[in-house]
Amino acid sequence: MKTFHELLKSRRSIRKYTDEALSPEDVRLILEAALMAPSSKRSTGWEFIVIEEKEKLEKLSYCKEFGAKPIAGAAMAVVVLADPLKSDVWIEDASIASILMQLQAEDLGLGSCWIQIRNRLTENGQSAEDYIREMLGIPYQIQVLSVITFGHKNEERKPFDEEKTMWEKVHIDKW
Ligand SMILES: Cc1cc2nc3c(=O)[nH]c(=O)nc-3n(C[C@H](O)[C@H](O)[C@H](O)COP(=O)(O)O)c2cc1C
Repeated sequence: MKTFHELLKSRRSIRKYTDEALSPEDVRLILEAALMAPSSKRSTGWEFIVIEEKEKLEKLSYCKEFGAKPIAGAAMAVVVLADPLKSDVWIEDASIASILMQLQAEDLGLGSCWIQIRNRLTENGQSAEDYIREMLGIPYQIQVLSVITFGHKNEERKPFDEEKTMWEKVHIDKW
């Protein structure tokens, strides 16, 4: 069994997936990771839309010009949303839920990738958020942070190289 440190090292963005579906238990565990995420003042302002249908995944992959193609080949994508009226720090809350799902996926031996939606555009200049909002019928006040893709890995990524740890980013006592 991997230690948590090994899990952190082995989690890399996986953008290529096999055609194998995720088991219902894997799906449950991934979503449970999100639903157990800490949130400011326990506001739990996040919401999640699970997409597994091939055609919908394909359509969703056009939500932005660059960097969204992994959605098309994923076994599942989870659209991570949040209600800013429930939390003024919804970006933080939704980000934590996103990364926890990725770590849970890695623990299950599955690949995942964060697809950025907030502040991104489709190739026609529409906001990626609005594209997804229209496609999935998301209410106006709900914000779209990310789409997290999941699937069985179909590419090999080396674990994080600890030689490259940027210790210079850590400042002791003052900048
Ligand atoms: C906030 C955020 C946004 C990201 N957006 C994308 C994206 O839109 N498309 C993509 O393929 N990868 C995306 N990534 C994955 C990063 O490119 C990746 O985490 C980074 O290159 C480090 O590689 P690693 O995850 O394999 O360690 C994103 C990651 C984060 C944290």
